[in-house]
Amino acid sequence: MAKRVLVSGGAGYIGSHVTVELINAGYEVVVADNMSNCDMTCFEGVKKITGRDDIPFFEIDCCDYEAVEKLFAENSIDAVIHFAAYKAVGESVAQPIKYYRNNLVSFLNILEVAKAKGGCNVLFSSSATVYGEAENLPVTEQTPRLPATSPYGNTKQMCEDILRDSVAAYDGVKGIALRYFNPIGAHPSALIGELPRGVPNNLVPFITQTAIGKRKQLSVFGNDYDTHDGTGVRDYIHVVDLAKGHVAAVKYATATLGCDVFNLGTGTGYSVLDMVKAFETANNIPVPYEIAPRRPGDIDECYADPTRAYEILGWKAEYGIEDMCRDANNWQSKNPNGFEA
Ligand code: WQD
Repeated sequence: MAKRVLVSGGAGYIGSHVTVELINAGYEVVVADNMSNCDMTCFEGVKKITGRDDIPFFEIDCCDYEAVEKLFAENSIDAVIHFAAYKAVGESVAQPIKYYRNNLVSFLNILEVAKAKGGCNVLFSSSATVYGEAENLPVTEQTPRLPATSPYGNTKQMCEDILRDSVAAYDGVKGIALRYFNPIGAHPSALIGELPRGVPNNLVPFITQTAIGKRKQLSVFGNDYDTHDGTGVRDYIHVVDLAKGHVAAVKYATATLGCDVFNLGTGTGYSVLDMVKAFETANNIPVPYEIAPRRPGDIDECYADPTRAYEILGWKAEYGIEDMCRDANNWQSKNPNGFEA
């Protein structure tokens, strides 16, 4: 009997891609989402891609303990991948209580119910933001975390600590924190992808909206960073590669004990201007831009050493930067208005 995985936040950008890859790998999946930052577009896309019309979907808020408890009682869950969290860095600075309450309470509920049912494998969606401005690059899982520079980043660090302490205390609870670098792109089918509400915070959705003429030009936030061309360098990873990393981690969680952490990145850093160039080359579309002031809180450079995920999970990213740019544009051009559609 295939293992059943609960994907909380599973109708969202990364959660929907992970649901597809889990089903492709033979897992049964249960999706829970409160629909606060997505719509049914992606979940419908998951059903089309997988050909599965019977994926159980629960519109619940993971901050509602009774709802989480009922979901576990009605479905035998072997593992949970917890995505359900708010993730806009700037918004978290403006509304810290909203972020601490939602991101911490939702995860505490998942852990509490997992513990009450005698344990299960809990995978937590963390972020490279926990490293802050690392002294040495590339960052490994042993690179010390630095004090978070936003409530969003702090909730990621706090949830990693909550997971570690819960695994140590409660029999049967096993944990893996997956630290993502910069997920971008979309499933090649263009049936699922990122649907940012309003003006995109992140680079690639802003580039794709500029490319289709929805935005006048890209503002490059600073060109005086200590990088090869002065613009910010990040480790962009195709969201399908990231999703496959989750499947590898679910497999590993079943076979192991305790708590572990893995970087999910490509190991290569690209600057903002590198991304503009890669996007223009991959899609033969110009991306007009201007140099603008730095964005508060941005770091110069961050990219992963993904060796450990390869050695232990047998996973590494396969897509290149132009694949990522091609799939990002493909999705955007098929969904020009995103949520507003
Ligand atoms: C990338 C680079 C910007 C927009 C954040 C979170 C991280 C994760 C991903 C949630 C930087 C530059 C951006 C623009 C620009 N979030 N940029 N013009 O900040 O590395 O990571 O998003 O899961 O946890 O911290 O990603 O895409 O916002 O920025 O020049 O309009 O692009 O300065 O150098 P970031 P980003």
